[in-house]
Amino acid sequence: MSTIPALTNWHPVTWQSRAATQQPKYGDPKALERAVASLSRLPPLVVSWEIEALTAKLAQAQRGEQFLLQGGDCAESFEDCESNNIARRLKILLQMSLVLLQGLRKPIIRVGRFAGQYAKPRSADTETRDGVTLPCYRGDNVNRPGFTLLERAPDPELLLRGYERASLTLNFVRALIDGGFADLHHPEYWDLGFLRHAPLRDAYQKIVDSIAESMDFFESMSGQRVHAATRVDFYTSHEGLHLLSEQAQTRYIERQKRWYNLSTHMPWIGMRTADIDGAHVEYFRGIANPVGVKVGASMSAEWLQQLIQVLNPQNQPGRLTFIHRFGIKDIEQRLPGMIRAVRATGSQVLWVCDPMHGNTETTSGGVKTRRFDNILGEVEAAFRIHEAEGSMLGGVHIELTGEDVTECIGGARGLTESDLVRAYKSQVDPRLNAEQALELAMLIARRAASGHRPGKSPRNSA
Ligand code: PEP
Ligand code: CO
Repeated sequence: MSTIPALTNWHPVTWQSRAATQQPKYGDPKALERAVASLSRLPPLVVSWEIEALTAKLAQAQRGEQFLLQGGDCAESFEDCESNNIARRLKILLQMSLVLLQGLRKPIIRVGRFAGQYAKPRSADTETRDGVTLPCYRGDNVNRPGFTLLERAPDPELLLRGYERASLTLNFVRALIDGGFADLHHPEYWDLGFLRHAPLRDAYQKIVDSIAESMDFFESMSGQRVHAATRVDFYTSHEGLHLLSEQAQTRYIERQKRWYNLSTHMPWIGMRTADIDGAHVEYFRGIANPVGVKVGASMSAEWLQQLIQVLNPQNQPGRLTFIHRFGIKDIEQRLPGMIRAVRATGSQVLWVCDPMHGNTETTSGGVKTRRFDNILGEVEAAFRIHEAEGSMLGGVHIELTGEDVTECIGGARGLTESDLVRAYKSQVDPRLNAEQALELAMLIARRAASGHRPGKSPRNSA
């Protein structure tokens, strides 16, 4: 590990002297204080050596040696903290990673948007329905989606309920992984119960079979078992939005001589809270975790350069991931300038494409949706533009669920606007269902396999 000079003018609370946007307004400050104090005493959900291991992998991804798959719900809900839901979501992420591994021919770093993705930024503080105005829903860590004053009033106790659910989720994920859920020696675990679209099922089965065959071949030739295939690493991430709760789970690790956010491996700064002088950037600058920043069309090249300056002044490998989410309409125009601006700093970042948040639209019927074609189109454009700029796309960031929802339009089964009513469950952004998510991974993998040039490294990978 490189030696990083200690930050002298930073502490987990220094963000409090900055403007903190997107924070709930609690009615009872004493109750809030009590909840934050309880949270500060609870054991961490993750540990610093896992975080350091992830940073090292992200550094490899910056060099083009690994690829990041980050995915999960837009917002987890307390309601959905149950075994089937967690297992299905884990499974689709594993299946996508297998497909990407085969197509990209490099290890996939798996990072879930789960075990703590409970706080949401919103475009307005309030919501009005039929003349009644209430606080907006800000995620299950803050309030409830139901449209009553009781449900919408921010409740500090929910921070503790959220911590508990994050811990239950992570415990189950760790147990599934340790118990062989992801063991490639058992392709039957990799079945596609949900997949109704036959051509997709066949193509996927071919990938699983070919990986199993290569493994058998290797194992019979070498007389050794491929241990790496029995266990995979899984990391967690969430938007580091609710600063009091992030602060409460920030701990000083004596051995590392640094502060870590131990509620998750890889927190990210959302686009709405990435102000250079704002509280979020101040908080994130002092934690040792690898951090992501969402980069949208409203951000300037100078802003990006300042973020690098503040968040990664030592140019530490693996530390900073820029997750661009321009949308199909803006990516061609905006991404090249951003890549050049980052290169001009001489600092390394990992470039990741979030093809979801720039492609949200509202149907004539008032339903928030995203089109599969736009999502795929943005990922394809991202690969192409990075390559043309001598850079490299090092990952994708996807909103998805393991369930058979109908929230996004398109995909192999051709969901249409009229299907959206059938199984639209998200309280916030529309997610790809398992079938659409797997199809996206397969199309990315196919594209990468056809354009694959081994040994080609990005120009800025010095
Ligand atoms: C999100 O990831 O759910 C989100 C709100 O993204 P962004 O900050 O990019 O809008
Ligand atoms: Co979202």
